[in-house]
Amino acid sequence: MSSSSKPPMSGSKNTPKAKAKKARVNPRAYSSVVVDGKDRAASRAMLRPVGFSDADFKKPQIGIASTWSMVTPCNMHINKLADKACSGVDLAGGKGVIFNTITISDGISMGTENMKYSLVSREVIADSIETVMACQGYDGIVAVGGCDKNMPGCLMAIARLDRPAVFVYGGTILPGMHNGKQLDVVSVFEAIGAEANNKIPLKELKAIESKAIPGPGSCGGMYTANTMASAIEAMGMSLSNSSAQAAVSEHKLEDCEAAGKAVMNLVKKGITPKMIMTKKAFENAMTVAIALGGSTNLVLHLLAMAHCVGIKLSLADFTRVGKRVPMLADLKPSGRYSMADLIEIGGIQPLMKMLLDAGLLHGDCLTVTGKTLKQNLAKVKPYPGAQDIIRAMDNPIKSDSHLVVLKGNLSPEGSVAKISGHEGLRFEGRARVYNSSDAALKAILDQKVKKGDVVVIRNEGPKGGPGMQEMLSHTGAIMGQGLGNEVALITDGRFSGGTHGFVVGHITPEAHVGGPIALVKNGDRITIDAKSRTLSMDVSAKELAARKAKWKAPKVKYKRGVLAKYAANVSSASEGAITDQF
Ligand code: FES
Ligand code: MG
Repeated sequence: MSSSSKPPMSGSKNTPKAKAKKARVNPRAYSSVVVDGKDRAASRAMLRPVGFSDADFKKPQIGIASTWSMVTPCNMHINKLADKACSGVDLAGGKGVIFNTITISDGISMGTENMKYSLVSREVIADSIETVMACQGYDGIVAVGGCDKNMPGCLMAIARLDRPAVFVYGGTILPGMHNGKQLDVVSVFEAIGAEANNKIPLKELKAIESKAIPGPGSCGGMYTANTMASAIEAMGMSLSNSSAQAAVSEHKLEDCEAAGKAVMNLVKKGITPKMIMTKKAFENAMTVAIALGGSTNLVLHLLAMAHCVGIKLSLADFTRVGKRVPMLADLKPSGRYSMADLIEIGGIQPLMKMLLDAGLLHGDCLTVTGKTLKQNLAKVKPYPGAQDIIRAMDNPIKSDSHLVVLKGNLSPEGSVAKISGHEGLRFEGRARVYNSSDAALKAILDQKVKKGDVVVIRNEGPKGGPGMQEMLSHTGAIMGQGLGNEVALITDGRFSGGTHGFVVGHITPEAHVGGPIALVKNGDRITIDAKSRTLSMDVSAKELAARKAKWKAPKVKYKRGVLAKYAANVSSASEGAITDQF
């Protein structure tokens, strides 16, 4: 990307220097290169049939990156949202152009080998948005995402491009209902385990399957989509309250139009993502996601997004921030409520205000409103008194983060545990080792996994899987069998935001490159300790060295196509599993 054509950064101070810089902001810095002048007539000729008039060539062009698709309910409504964002741009004096990128659905591919494409899709989304934006010369972007990988994918592209940008979350699904109980996709995964264990009849599983997903929107608990939407809002890259609106609400449509207008304001002022996505903004994102009890995928995605914007973020930052941030939300998967319930009491803005007042958020961070976080929160009212979804600061569910980075002789470079406190803080058990996700799932459904087992699923890391499959089918089945408190699961793959129980993922180095997880044998004693932040096996260094001497690197599984390309390039999960080479 040519840096010479970038709009200059404008300072917030009203100094003569800042004023002079401001005066140099060119809202058409990218599109003018493509459409201005008589020698660009061919470009203009191509653009006329897609809706450009003479007047439009003088306006900033804004790419509207839509993740619309009929692949999944998470994204099936996004075309309407993209249209609204586009009209917001047009109303504010810009020219919006909608283009598409892909999505896949974890909820649909989960528990099959197809899931290997899931994390890979994050890179495809980022690469495709970057490609269209940079090639077509758009001056700004509104990206609208629905399913899990959409959000980090959009933000990675936005960060790489560093052009004025607003992210819009497609919104949460509303809960399904069955016998007076709320349902979502995780209810179905747990019902599969319950049926396999004869705890419910097949008829009941069918009823849950039929009612769990009532319409458009992203999975409804504080799973990965809602976690990332909340984190991105806290980071300042979406408008206030964008994360807490139902997919099928008027509020979501209003959010889209406002995002179109907001990006035009950023274009005019020359405010780019690098000015918003600072280290402090990443800390704000972590803080809010931890308080909400968010998904382990947060760690992977924030590391990747930080890399794309040139911020140094590491697992140690999650430990540092996590030590001071309490988990306050009683939200699914480990808690009782859904995102729709949180919306009813005011979304995440009152929580952010609480965290700001407690000194846990950086209020001076700039956001896409053009104002600081503190200014955005100035008029936010507290939650209503009679609610038990978000606890008070002095009455947390857990006094520090549920996302715990563990190191030890099983994960020398780190791993990420999700320990909400419901399961206790320590688990010790015997290893039951599986060399693939499929083999482990079969064993769990066949009831081969017993109380006291630590299920080890390996060769599922970024390179080894490739693509770090999520183990929601596995943890759902363990929960459904009533073994949630008696069995732990550790892997070099990862977990869905829907997973709960005693789980450790992202174990690094991964088995494929000879990490110690490759050396575990059935029956080894494994200890997971959230207090000492360790993941260890009771095997001597001498014995581990002997096992390592006999270890042979697994064969490359895919030789062609996107999985092969991904496996060849991807970095460790402790670095965000990104495909940039430097
Ligand atoms: Fe799309 Fe869960 S499968 S958000
Ligand atoms: Mg997922």
